Order: sequence, then structure tokens, then C-alpha cells
Amino acid sequence: MPCEPDGTRVFELPDDPAATERLGAEVGARLQPGDTIALQGGLGAGKTTFTRGLARGLGLDDPEGVASPTYLLVIEHGGPIPLLHADAYLPEKLAGFLADGGLEYLFDPAKVVVVEWPENVRKHLPDHVLWVELSMPPRPGRTVRLRPQGPRGFPWLADLPRIDEPH
Ligand SMILES: Nc1ncnc2c1ncn2[C@@H]1O[C@H](COP(=O)(O)OP(=O)(O)OP(=O)(O)O)[C@@H](O)[C@H]1O
Ligand SMILES: [Mg+2]
Repeated sequence: MPCEPDGTRVFELPDDPAATERLGAEVGARLQPGDTIALQGGLGAGKTTFTRGLARGLGLDDPEGVASPTYLLVIEHGGPIPLLHADAYLPEKLAGFLADGGLEYLFDPAKVVVVEWPENVRKHLPDHVLWVELSMPPRPGRTVRLRPQGPRGFPWLADLPRIDEPH
């Protein structure tokens, strides 16, 4: 599956949540400390499922513990590279937190950060971001678009395997 010129990859996933989780795991296994994932997708698009896969790929202690952080703002999951899972669905809450010293906490160079509804806090995001957009195509399944942003990029995007059938 070739990349677009800017390094973007697009996956057409089958109608099975395990496929979304497996793509998340393939991405998670390649993430480095200091990486930020801006995770876009409407209600029910698969954001939690993808993040659970990320947690599995990162080798976190409790991937099943990943949930929607909406009312908690930021949830930290421990592991070899800890994951901070933030939600900007209620933008004034997360933006207020970020403006009030939360930026240093959230964009910790030793951790990986996932921000759901990132368009709500776009101006607070760092330069180095992997945009992940989940959507529901007209057919069953999900479309996932992975778009690198920033000078360092995410060169391993080109190496991600096809996700046809979940393992
Ligand atoms: N590739 C897929 N094919 C079919 N169903 C899927 C796929 N990926 C995820 N799902 C299902 O979609 C539903 C919503 O997934 P999930 O809870 O991860 O979405 P979400 O974006 O986090 O939702 P919310 O906005 O409510 O937090 C779940 O039932 C999940 O199993
Ligand atoms: Mg969710």
C-alpha cells in the first residue's frame, strides 16, 4: 500500500473491531517517547478501540483499562513508555488545563500522548504530531487516515503492514 507524497497512509479496515485494534497495535509498537497522536473521529468511530490497540502495541501494563477519558480529562497508563490519554471533547476544560500549566504535564518527552477531539485544542498541540482520522465509510468497516506532521515525521508509516483479516 503506497504512501501519499506527504507520507500519509490510508487503511480501509474490514467490519471487525479487532482490525481497528490491530492497526492501533501496529502503530503503538512503533511509537517513541515524545510522540503525540491527534485522534480524530466522530462518536462511535473507534477511537477507544484504536487507543486500546496502541496501548497493547506499546506494551502497557493494562491495555484493557483504556476507556473514553471524557469526564476525567487525562488518564495515565503505566508501562515501558507511559501513555497519557487526553480528551478535548469539552474543549474549555482541556484548553483551560493546558493554558494553566498542563502543557508541560501533557506533552512530556518521556511519554506518548493521545488527544481525542484534537481539533478543539489545535493551537496547543506540539509541532510533531501524527494525525489519525477514523471514519465510517458507506460500506461496513472503518477508514483510517494516518497523516504525519512536523519536520521529524513518522518514517515508519511506510512500513505498516496491510490489515486485511484480523489475526
Ligand atoms: N473496524 C470496525 N468495524 C466494525 N466495528 C468497529 C470497528 N472498529 C471499531 N468498531 C466498533 O465501533 C464501536 C465504537 O467504537 P469505540 O467505542 O472505540 O468508538 P469511539 O470513537 O471511542 O466512540 P465514542 O465517541 O463514543 O467514545 C464499538 O462497538 C467498536 O467495537
Ligand atoms: Mg471512546
